[in-house]
Amino acid sequence: NKNSPHVFNGVSFPSIVPVEGLKALENFETRPDDVVIVSYPKSGLNWTYEVVTLILNNADISKPKLPLFTHVPYLEVMHIEHGKTYAEILRDLPSPRLIATHLRYSMLPPGVHDNGTKTIYVARNPKDVVVSYYHFHRMSRVHPDPGGWDKFLSDFMSGNVVWGSWYQHVLDVWANRQKRNILIVRYEDMKKDLPAAIRQMAALLGRQLTEPGVQLIASHCSFDSMKSNPMTNGSKVPMVFNNDESQFMRKGVVGDWINHFTVAQDRTFDSHYLRTIAVRGMEFEFELI
Ligand code: A3P
Repeated sequence: NKNSPHVFNGVSFPSIVPVEGLKALENFETRPDDVVIVSYPKSGLNWTYEVVTLILNNADISKPKLPLFTHVPYLEVMHIEHGKTYAEILRDLPSPRLIATHLRYSMLPPGVHDNGTKTIYVARNPKDVVVSYYHFHRMSRVHPDPGGWDKFLSDFMSGNVVWGSWYQHVLDVWANRQKRNILIVRYEDMKKDLPAAIRQMAALLGRQLTEPGVQLIASHCSFDSMKSNPMTNGSKVPMVFNNDESQFMRKGVVGDWINHFTVAQDRTFDSHYLRTIAVRGMEFEFELI
């Protein structure tokens, strides 16, 4: 299904994100103990979702009972089997709810802004994001055709991709970074020191973990462990992922962009990035670690 996307509030979405569902978010009722994980696509949301699920379950690794992807409740996305959006399904779920979304911060339900909902924003350097997003478009049956790499890269830079501009997405949350209920976590930092990121997230959520608990979560959520675990590696949703094209757990590294960008593309990308992001003080690491 390579349906062409539609546009809502200036942002392009695939057909699995229905307009009615986006409009209905205006009235989505948040609860004081909701936890929201927000990221631009391909920035490590599913990884963070697994980590936070385990934090909320006190490092009990038997707790995630459904394969990731069949149940990650992306607020705006249509549930494959239920024929309604997760936002509707979430209305009937018990607390505490863990909610995921790729919507930019300003598009989230008003309650998230007004009531101080605990929010974890995962950010990843844009060069690795665009590479990951390109391969994801190739394998996903619900995303539009990416075209060739050169075209996709230029669409990404102009924000003409589904879920919109990466630049706008990170600037949106950056403008809200002083709020006490928001934690911005970087993919690169999670790669460097996952236990430290787990402790930071647990602190935001007011959860006490023992040190062995932190280590257990970190080893369960390493790339190799999640890649070999059928519950987390995306192999259980062949109706959405064509795993012959690419894999959900593709490489999981920092710096793979170097294998895709030409020198000229890198130069153009950098000057655009400097104008839009770096001037606002938000920093990313791009080099292989
Ligand atoms: P790559 O395509 O670069 O490998 P999202 O969940 O937001 O869609 O992000 C997907 C990206 O996160 C993919 O990047 C995927 O491999 C990576 N990822 C998922 N789990 C990971 C883990 N445990 N450690 C490192 N990277 C992970």
